Amino acid sequence: MTSTSGVDAQSQSRRAFVIVGHTQTTSPDFPLNDLPGSAGRMDILARCVTAAFCLSHGLRKDVEVFLVLRDEVVLRFEGARLKRLNPDERSTGALLKHALQALREGRTQSTPGVSVARRGLSEVLQELEERGFQLYVLDERGEDIRTADFASRSAFVLSDHRNFTPEEEVLLQEHPKLSLGPVVLHADHCIPLVHNELDRRFPPEALE
Ligand SMILES: C[S@@+](CC[C@H](N)C(=O)[O-])C[C@H]1O[C@@H](n2cnc3c(N)ncnc32)[C@H](O)[C@@H]1O
Repeated sequence: MTSTSGVDAQSQSRRAFVIVGHTQTTSPDFPLNDLPGSAGRMDILARCVTAAFCLSHGLRKDVEVFLVLRDEVVLRFEGARLKRLNPDERSTGALLKHALQALREGRTQSTPGVSVARRGLSEVLQELEERGFQLYVLDERGEDIRTADFASRSAFVLSDHRNFTPEEEVLLQEHPKLSLGPVVLHADHCIPLVHNELDRRFPPEALE
Protein backbone atom coordinates (compact mmCIF):
# COMPACT_ATOMS: atom_id res chain seq x y z
CA MET A 1 0.00 0.00 0.00
CA THR A 2 3.00 2.31 0.35
CA SER A 3 5.40 3.62 -2.23
CA THR A 4 8.89 4.80 -1.24
CA SER A 5 7.64 8.39 -1.12
CA GLY A 6 4.66 7.16 0.87
CA VAL A 7 6.96 5.77 3.54
CA ASP A 8 8.76 9.14 3.74
CA ALA A 9 5.46 10.95 4.02
CA GLN A 10 4.22 8.57 6.68
CA SER A 11 7.34 9.14 8.79
CA GLN A 12 6.24 12.81 9.09
CA SER A 13 2.87 11.90 10.53
CA ARG A 14 2.40 12.72 14.19
CA ARG A 15 -1.38 12.43 14.41
CA ALA A 16 -3.68 9.86 12.90
CA PHE A 17 -7.43 9.47 12.91
CA VAL A 18 -9.10 6.15 12.24
CA ILE A 19 -12.79 6.53 11.43
CA VAL A 20 -14.70 3.27 11.55
CA GLY A 21 -17.50 3.35 9.00
CA HIS A 22 -20.26 0.76 9.21
CA THR A 23 -22.75 1.58 6.48
CA GLN A 24 -20.81 3.22 3.64
CA THR A 25 -20.68 1.62 0.25
CA THR A 26 -17.42 0.12 -1.02
CA SER A 27 -18.55 0.62 -4.62
CA PRO A 28 -17.57 3.76 -6.58
CA ASP A 29 -20.99 3.87 -8.25
CA PHE A 30 -22.62 6.31 -5.85
CA PRO A 31 -23.79 9.75 -7.05
CA LEU A 32 -21.99 12.72 -5.53
CA ASN A 33 -25.28 14.47 -4.93
CA ASP A 34 -26.47 11.67 -2.62
CA LEU A 35 -23.58 11.02 -0.20
CA PRO A 36 -25.93 10.58 2.79
CA GLY A 37 -28.41 8.28 1.01
CA SER A 38 -27.28 5.83 -1.63
CA ALA A 39 -23.64 6.10 -0.50
CA GLY A 40 -24.64 4.98 3.02
CA ARG A 41 -23.63 8.10 5.03
CA MET A 42 -20.45 8.68 3.06
CA ASP A 43 -21.02 12.37 3.94
CA ILE A 44 -19.82 11.64 7.48
CA LEU A 45 -16.51 10.25 6.26
CA ALA A 46 -16.05 13.13 3.80
CA ARG A 47 -16.54 15.66 6.59
CA CYS A 48 -14.11 13.75 8.83
CA VAL A 49 -11.42 14.03 6.14
CA THR A 50 -11.84 17.78 5.74
CA ALA A 51 -11.99 18.25 9.53
CA ALA A 52 -8.71 16.36 9.91
CA PHE A 53 -6.74 18.27 7.27
CA CYS A 54 -8.28 21.61 6.38
CA LEU A 55 -7.09 24.83 8.01
CA SER A 56 -8.17 28.34 7.18
CA HIS A 57 -5.22 28.72 4.81
CA GLY A 58 -3.85 25.30 3.99
CA LEU A 59 -3.67 21.67 5.00
CA ARG A 60 -2.15 19.92 7.98
CA LYS A 61 0.78 17.92 6.68
CA ASP A 62 1.57 15.87 9.80
CA VAL A 63 -1.78 14.05 9.83
CA GLU A 64 -2.97 10.74 8.41
CA VAL A 65 -6.57 9.57 8.15
CA PHE A 66 -7.75 6.00 7.75
CA LEU A 67 -11.34 5.43 6.70
CA VAL A 68 -12.37 1.86 7.44
CA LEU A 69 -15.37 0.85 5.34
CA ARG A 70 -17.36 -2.15 6.61
CA ASP A 71 -14.11 -3.71 7.87
CA GLU A 72 -13.37 -4.59 4.23
CA VAL A 73 -11.70 -1.59 2.60
CA VAL A 74 -9.40 1.10 3.98
CA LEU A 75 -8.82 4.48 2.36
CA ARG A 76 -5.68 6.25 3.57
CA PHE A 77 -5.06 10.00 3.34
CA GLU A 78 -1.53 11.30 3.97
CA GLY A 79 -1.26 15.01 4.69
CA ALA A 80 2.34 15.27 3.50
CA ARG A 81 1.38 14.19 -0.03
CA LEU A 82 -2.27 15.18 -0.20
CA LYS A 83 -3.47 17.26 -3.16
CA ARG A 84 -6.91 18.22 -4.49
CA LEU A 85 -8.54 18.32 -1.05
CA ASN A 86 -10.95 21.24 -0.68
CA PRO A 87 -13.14 22.13 2.28
CA ASP A 88 -16.43 21.21 0.66
CA GLU A 89 -18.07 17.84 1.21
CA ARG A 90 -18.87 17.12 -2.44
CA SER A 91 -15.31 17.39 -3.75
CA THR A 92 -14.07 15.27 -0.85
CA GLY A 93 -16.77 12.76 -1.78
CA ALA A 94 -15.24 12.75 -5.26
CA LEU A 95 -11.84 11.81 -3.78
CA LEU A 96 -13.48 8.88 -1.99
CA LYS A 97 -15.18 7.83 -5.20
CA HIS A 98 -11.90 8.00 -7.14
CA ALA A 99 -10.23 5.82 -4.50
CA LEU A 100 -12.97 3.18 -4.70
CA GLN A 101 -12.72 3.27 -8.49
CA ALA A 102 -8.94 2.70 -8.18
CA LEU A 103 -9.65 -0.32 -5.98
CA ARG A 104 -12.06 -1.70 -8.57
CA GLU A 105 -9.34 -1.33 -11.23
CA GLY A 106 -6.78 -3.11 -9.05
CA ARG A 107 -4.74 -0.01 -8.20
CA THR A 108 -3.67 0.98 -4.68
CA GLN A 109 -2.83 4.61 -5.48
CA SER A 110 -5.62 7.03 -6.28
CA THR A 111 -5.26 10.82 -6.34
CA PRO A 112 -2.05 12.22 -4.74
CA GLY A 113 -1.88 11.30 -1.06
CA VAL A 114 -4.81 8.88 -1.23
CA SER A 115 -4.39 5.12 -1.31
CA VAL A 116 -6.74 2.20 -0.93
CA ALA A 117 -6.53 -1.47 -0.02
CA ARG A 118 -8.65 -4.39 1.00
CA ARG A 119 -8.00 -4.58 4.73
CA GLY A 120 -9.79 -4.06 8.01
CA LEU A 121 -9.62 -2.34 11.36
CA SER A 122 -7.31 -4.83 13.06
CA GLU A 123 -4.68 -4.40 10.33
CA VAL A 124 -4.82 -0.61 10.61
CA LEU A 125 -4.42 -0.75 14.39
CA GLN A 126 -1.52 -3.17 14.06
CA GLU A 127 0.22 -0.97 11.49
CA LEU A 128 -0.12 2.15 13.63
CA GLU A 129 1.27 0.38 16.68
CA GLU A 130 4.20 -0.96 14.68
CA ARG A 131 4.91 2.59 13.54
CA GLY A 132 5.06 3.81 17.14
CA PHE A 133 1.65 5.45 17.48
CA GLN A 134 -0.08 5.39 20.84
CA LEU A 135 -3.70 4.44 20.16
CA TYR A 136 -6.63 6.13 21.89
CA VAL A 137 -10.34 5.45 21.50
CA LEU A 138 -12.63 8.48 21.53
CA ASP A 139 -15.49 7.78 23.91
CA GLU A 140 -17.51 10.20 26.00
CA ARG A 141 -17.13 7.86 29.00
CA GLY A 142 -13.34 7.95 28.86
CA GLU A 143 -10.70 10.01 30.67
CA ASP A 144 -10.99 13.75 30.06
CA ILE A 145 -8.68 14.62 27.16
CA ARG A 146 -7.59 17.72 29.09
CA THR A 147 -5.91 15.64 31.77
CA ALA A 148 -4.41 13.01 29.48
CA ASP A 149 -0.75 12.69 28.55
CA PHE A 150 0.11 12.18 24.92
CA ALA A 151 2.88 10.38 23.12
CA SER A 152 4.65 12.21 20.29
CA ARG A 153 2.69 10.09 17.83
CA SER A 154 -0.97 9.67 18.69
CA ALA A 155 -3.76 7.93 16.82
CA PHE A 156 -7.44 8.40 17.66
CA VAL A 157 -10.11 5.87 16.77
CA LEU A 158 -13.73 6.96 16.44
CA SER A 159 -16.92 5.53 15.04
CA ASP A 160 -19.25 7.03 12.44
CA HIS A 161 -22.95 7.45 13.36
CA ARG A 162 -23.19 3.91 14.74
CA ASN A 163 -21.79 2.35 17.89
CA PHE A 164 -18.66 0.23 17.60
CA THR A 165 -19.67 -3.38 17.00
CA PRO A 166 -18.93 -5.99 19.71
CA GLU A 167 -16.07 -7.30 17.51
CA GLU A 168 -14.59 -3.79 17.23
CA GLU A 169 -15.00 -3.27 20.98
CA VAL A 170 -12.84 -6.35 21.55
CA LEU A 171 -10.11 -4.97 19.27
CA LEU A 172 -10.22 -1.60 21.03
CA GLN A 173 -10.65 -2.68 24.64
CA GLU A 174 -6.96 -2.58 25.56
CA HIS A 175 -6.50 1.02 24.42
CA PRO A 176 -7.17 4.07 26.61
CA LYS A 177 -10.47 5.86 26.12
CA LEU A 178 -10.52 9.65 25.94
CA SER A 179 -13.54 11.90 26.41
CA LEU A 180 -14.03 15.28 24.75
CA GLY A 181 -16.80 16.11 27.20
CA PRO A 182 -20.09 14.68 28.43
CA VAL A 183 -22.11 15.36 25.28
CA VAL A 184 -22.13 12.89 22.37
CA LEU A 185 -20.89 14.74 19.29
CA HIS A 186 -20.86 14.07 15.57
CA ALA A 187 -17.70 12.26 14.52
CA ASP A 188 -16.47 15.13 12.34
CA HIS A 189 -16.97 17.58 15.21
CA CYS A 190 -14.69 15.51 17.44
CA ILE A 191 -11.64 15.85 15.21
CA PRO A 192 -11.05 19.63 15.50
CA LEU A 193 -11.45 19.34 19.28
CA VAL A 194 -8.65 16.76 19.36
CA HIS A 195 -6.51 18.91 17.08
CA ASN A 196 -7.08 21.95 19.24
CA GLU A 197 -6.05 20.09 22.38
CA LEU A 198 -2.87 18.84 20.75
CA ASP A 199 -2.10 22.15 18.98
CA ARG A 200 -2.02 23.85 22.39
CA ARG A 201 0.46 21.32 23.74
CA PHE A 202 2.48 20.62 20.59
CA PRO A 203 2.25 23.54 18.15
CA PRO A 204 2.26 22.12 14.62
CA GLU A 205 5.53 22.45 12.74
CA ALA A 206 4.51 21.15 9.37
CA LEU A 207 1.70 23.21 7.90
CA GLU A 208 1.38 23.81 4.18
C1 LIG B 1 -21.95 10.30 16.44
S1 LIG B 1 -20.90 9.55 17.62
C2 LIG B 1 -21.62 7.94 17.70
C3 LIG B 1 -22.97 8.02 18.30
C4 LIG B 1 -23.38 6.76 19.06
N1 LIG B 1 -23.19 5.60 18.30
C5 LIG B 1 -24.81 6.85 19.50
O1 LIG B 1 -25.68 6.55 18.72
O2 LIG B 1 -25.00 7.29 20.62
C6 LIG B 1 -19.44 9.23 16.71
C7 LIG B 1 -18.20 8.95 17.49
O3 LIG B 1 -17.64 10.15 17.95
C8 LIG B 1 -16.94 9.93 19.16
N2 LIG B 1 -17.50 10.82 20.17
C9 LIG B 1 -18.68 11.47 20.11
N3 LIG B 1 -18.83 12.24 21.20
C10 LIG B 1 -17.71 12.09 21.95
C11 LIG B 1 -17.26 12.65 23.19
N4 LIG B 1 -17.99 13.49 23.88
N5 LIG B 1 -16.05 12.26 23.64
C12 LIG B 1 -15.28 11.40 22.95
N6 LIG B 1 -15.66 10.85 21.77
C13 LIG B 1 -16.85 11.20 21.29
C14 LIG B 1 -17.08 8.46 19.50
O4 LIG B 1 -15.97 7.74 19.01
C15 LIG B 1 -18.33 8.10 18.73
O5 LIG B 1 -18.33 6.73 18.40
